Amino acid sequence: MPERVALYPGSFDPLTNGHLDVLFRARRLADRVIVAILENDEKKPLFSVEERLEMIREIVGGDSAVSVRSFSGLLVDFAAETGATLLVRGLRAISDYEYELQMALMNRRLAPSIETVFLMAKEEYSYVSSRLVKEVARLGADVSGLVPEPVRHRLEARLPRS
Ligand code: PNS
Repeated sequence: MPERVALYPGSFDPLTNGHLDVLFRARRLADRVIVAILENDEKKPLFSVEERLEMIREIVGGDSAVSVRSFSGLLVDFAAETGATLLVRGLRAISDYEYELQMALMNRRLAPSIETVFLMAKEEYSYVSSRLVKEVARLGADVSGLVPEPVRHRLEARLPRS
């Protein structure tokens, strides 16, 4: 049986516990999972790609079946380069669906042999997004339980409470 490789792409600025939960679930579906961080400065990220690579590697480093890479260009090209045949995306609420469906169908058009699978994180994370985590952290809220500890440390260092 050929090895089944899944790609879990995103901005991960920063990785949340919802992302991590989806990653664990993807890990059960594939022999290897590659977390793929999009290089996109247009989004004005809080953390550089290098910082995100470092943080996520720190979090998942114990699992040899998970690797963390950055990519630019088309996701399906990166999937082909890495031998991935599954694209994993997390779905929280119905509001995610429209954008995700468009991306999945476009990716299918570009690369018909690559399948997108949607995974649902635990319901306790259904409201957690990188954007909201940054917003509340910036305003001084405690984000423990919403993000892994290495992310929390870096958020606190980057966004000192006033
Ligand atoms: O976490 P995000 O920002 O919702 O992730 C979006 C991501 C990285 C999956 C998407 O923007 C992407 O795949 N970009 C790469 C460029 C590409 O392939 N675009 C066409 C996808 S339909």
